[in-house]
Amino acid sequence: MHFQWYPGHMTKARRMMQENIKLIDLIIELVDARVPLSSRNPDIDELGKNKARLILLNKADLAEDRRNDEWMEYFKKQGYSVVKVNSKKGGGIKSIQSVIQEACKEKMERDRKRGILNRPVRAMVVGIPNVGKSTFINALAGKACAKTGNKPGVTKGKQWIRLNKNVELLDTPGILWPKFEDQTVGLRLAFIGSIKDEILQTEELASELVKFLNQSYPGVLEEKYTIESSEDNYEVLRRIAESRHCLVRGSELDVEKAAAILLDDFRNGRLGRLTLELPEEN
Ligand code: G4P
Repeated sequence: MHFQWYPGHMTKARRMMQENIKLIDLIIELVDARVPLSSRNPDIDELGKNKARLILLNKADLAEDRRNDEWMEYFKKQGYSVVKVNSKKGGGIKSIQSVIQEACKEKMERDRKRGILNRPVRAMVVGIPNVGKSTFINALAGKACAKTGNKPGVTKGKQWIRLNKNVELLDTPGILWPKFEDQTVGLRLAFIGSIKDEILQTEELASELVKFLNQSYPGVLEEKYTIESSEDNYEVLRRIAESRHCLVRGSELDVEKAAAILLDDFRNGRLGRLTLELPEEN
């Protein structure tokens, strides 16, 4: 799903977050493992202060594994619980329930001291569009899970999914807005396809991706498309077009098509597991 943000959307998203956050103990924040910082929301720490926090490096299958581990360390050092997951295939999902309880240990202890026993921890999944929130909720909740229905004191219509006797999950995720104002962030989010390609034309975006790949993963494009290397990003796209027989009117190279192929291959992991930003840069 692509999502076009307007100020109205942002205000609504913020209001929904503020409303729902009051009901929960734990924020489960999904980030994209390929761009763990660029895919975070700038205001989430402020919105979620005083709540237990769990960060999921989702789409971990598309990012380099040693980088995933570095990012886990990075977030752990900042006090978050962290798990790397592949919501699409279910990787990492099994450990989530115990991690949730671990992340909420202090809160449960406080409850216990105040004589509140057996009150389940309530959690909500949040993240920017396309980061995999719905896929994750489905993977975690599975089919076996019954919805708990409306509860007194909860806005009508809100549904809680009972994961086990200790944990309930709000069934609708909180949609967060990305950091629009930062150009590098915008570019990285466009690479992974989480914001519309319209900030740049397909060819321009693909040519920026060629530039990034040549710097950070030299040799990947040459091997994937069986092409000679070139310093000129646009020339690389032409070579991909040649190699993939992308032609218009039977003879002219269709660079636009090659650009779309490159972006699609990258987004779907067909260029291998690639990470676009590193913890040591931050
Ligand atoms: P959202 O609710 O946050 O907007 O995201 P959603 O779950 O709709 O997921 C967005 C896309 O990301 C989906 O792909 C989904 O399959 C994919 N996805 C989610 N989690 C993972 C993951 O851990 N690894 C990988 N590789 N992909 C993941 P789609 O292209 O919209 O659909 P489809 O490819 O599943 O058909």
